[in-house]
Amino acid sequence: MARFLFRGARLVDPASGHDAVTDVLVEDETVEAIGHDLDRRGTELIDAEGLVLAPGFVDLHTHLREPGREDAETVETGSRAAALGGYTALCAMPNTDPVADTAAVILEVQNLGDKTGLVDVHPAAAITRGLEGERMTEIGELAELGVRLFTDDHECVQSAQVMRMALEYARAYDVVIAQHAQEATLSEGWQMHEGYWSATLGLRGVPAEAEAVVVARDILLAGRTRGRLHVTHTSAGLSVLLIRQARGRGLRVTADVTPHHLTFIDQDLQGYDTNLRVNPPFRSAEDRESLREGVRDGTLDAVATDHAPHGVEDKEVEFDQARPGTTGLETALGAALGALDGDVGLAVARMSAEPARILGLDEHGGPVAPGRPANLTVFDPTASWAVGERPFASKGRNSAFLGRTLRGRILHTMLRGRFTVRDGEATG
Ligand code: DOR
Repeated sequence: MARFLFRGARLVDPASGHDAVTDVLVEDETVEAIGHDLDRRGTELIDAEGLVLAPGFVDLHTHLREPGREDAETVETGSRAAALGGYTALCAMPNTDPVADTAAVILEVQNLGDKTGLVDVHPAAAITRGLEGERMTEIGELAELGVRLFTDDHECVQSAQVMRMALEYARAYDVVIAQHAQEATLSEGWQMHEGYWSATLGLRGVPAEAEAVVVARDILLAGRTRGRLHVTHTSAGLSVLLIRQARGRGLRVTADVTPHHLTFIDQDLQGYDTNLRVNPPFRSAEDRESLREGVRDGTLDAVATDHAPHGVEDKEVEFDQARPGTTGLETALGAALGALDGDVGLAVARMSAEPARILGLDEHGGPVAPGRPANLTVFDPTASWAVGERPFASKGRNSAFLGRTLRGRILHTMLRGRFTVRDGEATG
């Protein structure tokens, strides 16, 4: 019987509202007890003074690249990167090769995730076959396999009729439709956010409205169908306004934002750094402030990484040729804390309890309480580290944060009572 006692940790558990220093006893797969003066017999003591103990993080938006681009990432390397980032569960995006639009691919990713065993891998399925935006996938059949989120991410579902049908199915099967909101005609050939900086840098811009018109349309369709809509990697202040209003009307609309969109703006592209080419693009300083405000007031439920590893050959090219995306799993906590004024309770809520609720993952996101699965992360909220000072576990080297100093370092991650990360190092 394995017994671990985390001593003197600040337990931050949004699901129960707990935020105080305490001891946490883990026995085998579960949390056994919380409090002071716990029975220490047969336990291994882990000094957690000055550290935060929280429910393991849940990422709503991870590109694991397997099957098809194992040179860029695999389920195993992505899982290890996730564990090092404090994650115990993630939702794998379906833009693989082949696309995750059939039971066979979903089962393959599920099996690879189980075999690796470092993080619970929940594959998302495509909304439309081949991400082509036309014929819907078998949402019912895929939902029966446990798929909880459907998305055509990196493509936007352009057809309002397809989106309407998808939301109707989503309602019937109680799953979530996540939209990569980007209207096609407004976004043709874009390289960055449209504004002063696109004109100055000579790069083709995409206006914030390209996102917001789709968000507005999909909110209307969610209202009609009562299906669950999720707006992923929200980038525009206009979108935040629309989502806030929809929530005020009681619609089933949720949203996430990435740590990088909370950090960078269009002006940062002055050096034409291809690691800062992401989709959707970094927008204006006002947009970034709206995103931060959306996180604070809960309009943006979750912070999700959009971890997008790419091969060197896809990034060491001219800016407009570079594939969009930045890695994010191993930098998420520090980046989120940096953008949210070090507000630990807020970051933990947006990275664990809320995404777990959106995905319906009962085992994750807390509450951290006796009898519950020990899916936990322990981090030092004040420890600084330079991104790139040690190698990433992800195969992707394309971090937008390279060279930056982040505050907030993961020390331990535990999946059902087993360390996947201990003292900052991946186990196994
Ligand atoms: O930056 C991005 N990269 N955004 C997406 O939507 C897709 C992703 C990728 O697959 O590389």
